[in-house]
Amino acid sequence: MSQGYATVDTARFIIGEPLPAPLFVLIDGRHIKYKSADDIIDRLMFDRLQVKGVKVLYVLDSDKALFEKWMGGADIPPGADPEKPIEKPTSFQITRSEARRAAMDLFQGNVGPESVVKTLAVSKKLVTEVMKQPYVSKNLAQLQYFARGTVDHSVNVSVLSVYLAHHMGYTHQLILNHIGTGGLLHDIGKVRVPLNDKDTLEESQEKLKAHPELGVKMLDEMPGVPSEVKMIVGQHHELFDGTGFPKKLRGAAIYDLARIVGLANAFDRMVADQAGTLPERQQAAVRKIEQTLNRKFEPQKLEKAVKILKMGV
Ligand SMILES: [Fe+2]
Ligand SMILES: [Fe+2]
Repeated sequence: MSQGYATVDTARFIIGEPLPAPLFVLIDGRHIKYKSADDIIDRLMFDRLQVKGVKVLYVLDSDKALFEKWMGGADIPPGADPEKPIEKPTSFQITRSEARRAAMDLFQGNVGPESVVKTLAVSKKLVTEVMKQPYVSKNLAQLQYFARGTVDHSVNVSVLSVYLAHHMGYTHQLILNHIGTGGLLHDIGKVRVPLNDKDTLEESQEKLKAHPELGVKMLDEMPGVPSEVKMIVGQHHELFDGTGFPKKLRGAAIYDLARIVGLANAFDRMVADQAGTLPERQQAAVRKIEQTLNRKFEPQKLEKAVKILKMGV
């Protein structure tokens, strides 16, 4: 064991927030500086660490407490008052964590028949929990967490898609299960995108456009994934006006359930790209979705989604 360093869990890093102290990697038994204080871990970097299975990095022992405080900021349950004692987690929160672990497993490459069974089972449970969620004011901060990277984003999209679909009038449990699983797996193809550390941001983004098709290919290799789920994965970036990808499908040619997951996906990205607290980000994103997504999504669905989201913020 090396002296003077402590480990920090990379899955708890906060994207876009300056690091409180330097970070180190362990190479051949030596700690090498990886990032300086005030450097930022961006989403791409975070995803790379997760996909490469880098579970821990190192900080100086004396900085451990600073890091705990920095990472802990986003772990306060949304909506909770930090002054109050921590309450027992709800069954929704517990199921959400289970879904997060299943998604993390898949994104770290542990894909096999067992993980498919586990993912289908956990998303079914998550659907049941989301269906219990009341359609009330200010509910969104309970449902959509602070997304650090693709895994948290995937869980958010799963929860939001089911919530939107349910309140849009989709009541059939099986359909909601497809939406929930499709949401959880929609970006799974990113695991197979051959990103290179030397790629520029533009190059990475161009390469990432292959992820819907790579995702479908990946799921084709895993027995037991419903075709509805694969259609959601393959079409979640298609847009109503035909400007999406990969097939530039238009209007009714886009699978109905993929249109809902596509909306939830766009919303979660917008929330992540805003500044401020989670509720502030959500409010800004609802305004933005209304102003900018005209013609990108089916008008009736967009209108209903905005109505539902507005109720929630
Ligand atoms: Fe995507
Ligand atoms: Fe996504």
